Amino acid sequence: MEENQTITSFVDMLYDVHIDNSKLYYYAELPHGHQRSMPLTQFVYEFFLFNSLYKVNWLESYDKGYLVYHPETDSETKQQQEFLKFIKCYAKKQPKHFYRAFEHLGCIPKIEGDWTNVVPDARISTEDGNRFFKKVRELQELIESSDDPDCFPVSKENFKLIKDATHYIYMVRDNIFHGSKTMGEIQDTNQKCRIEVYESVLKGITSLFFLAVGKNMIASDFVPCPVILNDSDVIGERPIWEALSSGIMKIGDTRLITKFKKLNPVPKHPPTEKSALFYPSAGNDILTPLLLGLPYCSQFYFYEACRRRFPRITTILRSINGFESANNTSERRRPNIFWQRRDNVDILEFKYNNIPRVLHWVHANNTDFLNKDVELSFYFHRGDSWGEGGSGQVWDSGLLPALKSKISLNGDCMYISDGEPGGLDPQQVQSFNVLNFPFLERNRTYLYGVL
Ligand SMILES: C[S@@+](CC[C@H](N)C(=O)[O-])C[C@H]1O[C@@H](n2cnc3c(N)ncnc32)[C@H](O)[C@@H]1O
Repeated sequence: MEENQTITSFVDMLYDVHIDNSKLYYYAELPHGHQRSMPLTQFVYEFFLFNSLYKVNWLESYDKGYLVYHPETDSETKQQQEFLKFIKCYAKKQPKHFYRAFEHLGCIPKIEGDWTNVVPDARISTEDGNRFFKKVRELQELIESSDDPDCFPVSKENFKLIKDATHYIYMVRDNIFHGSKTMGEIQDTNQKCRIEVYESVLKGITSLFFLAVGKNMIASDFVPCPVILNDSDVIGERPIWEALSSGIMKIGDTRLITKFKKLNPVPKHPPTEKSALFYPSAGNDILTPLLLGLPYCSQFYFYEACRRRFPRITTILRSINGFESANNTSERRRPNIFWQRRDNVDILEFKYNNIPRVLHWVHANNTDFLNKDVELSFYFHRGDSWGEGGSGQVWDSGLLPALKSKISLNGDCMYISDGEPGGLDPQQVQSFNVLNFPFLERNRTYLYGVL
């Protein structure tokens, strides 16, 4: 019993590191916010974790009931291979967990382009780098094309791919720890992107281990992917973490945006002056619908009965390419986007893609929106309820006809809703699809389509 606890407490201690690292607790507090101590922080932590895990002979430990380490005479590579054998055994029984551990690779931009060309050194050749990124790209494509996680192929080839990738990452780690990479090289943008891929693969491997030993929540579930607005406007990890920590975005939203964008090509025509997004009972939840609605809307109506402090969105918008001040006569390096308080509305005016946009955070009853002179082009709704501060208004069923009357005669209205409260009335929507994120903490499911 005591020996078993040794395994349990060792696993729990490393699991805490795994989760803390995925939530970026290792950040430096700065006077104007926080940021990663350095680009390598998460990668290094994840490697320490991996290193501590592969030192243990898990098959034998679980068999004997206490921690058994590999003999020190075993090479690191051999120990890593034994570790991979352990998680492979588990993945074969639970293919969907293999998929889940690496699902985040399917949400990041395609692993291709000049940035994947490594700078060769004494340990790593250009060919080694090319081979690694080709293999991870194959895994990424496999994840992207998989419809059913339960049938995900946990084949010999796929594990060979992980084995080769692990060895390559180990060589990279050697370079970093032995000082073959200078600080300048590590700060290079392409190098940062490559390190993010190494970190993502490692996170997949450690996540699979923690699923194998019975943990429910894993780091891979948290990894936010960059949001690609268009070729030149990409929102990186830092503003996304800022949005998550200030409550204007929810964990998993980057995946929601990526999936929705993949499924719905950008409309051919730019939004008109009156085309509007509506989100009843919005709270502070404004960034994700704004990013989703940009191709469709120039007016963004967020209804929230309670007036609160301004959501911390302005610095984030200022940092994204494509966002400009509403009257950008003398455009500064950072566009001047700021909140204005008018009666019961807080307003943000800005331009995106040269089109003027207005975000209205309205502190009134949701139903007030029905009197607005707008053309409804995007309807977003989630987190509302019958009680617990929710509106108790059935926007997805009883109120849907009134909402539909706001759509312009020859226009469409995209919608995404969790259907709460009251469910989505199938009579009222021509067809709807399901967007499901089964691995997120609250197992979010959305219905989406065209009204
Ligand atoms: C449970 S919170 C959800 C907030 C947000 N949808 C989210 O998922 O984070 C519901 C919010 O709806 C607001 N609310 C409730 N009834 C409302 C009404 N009739 N009109 C406008 N807002 C309302 C509440 O003040 C509360 O902030």
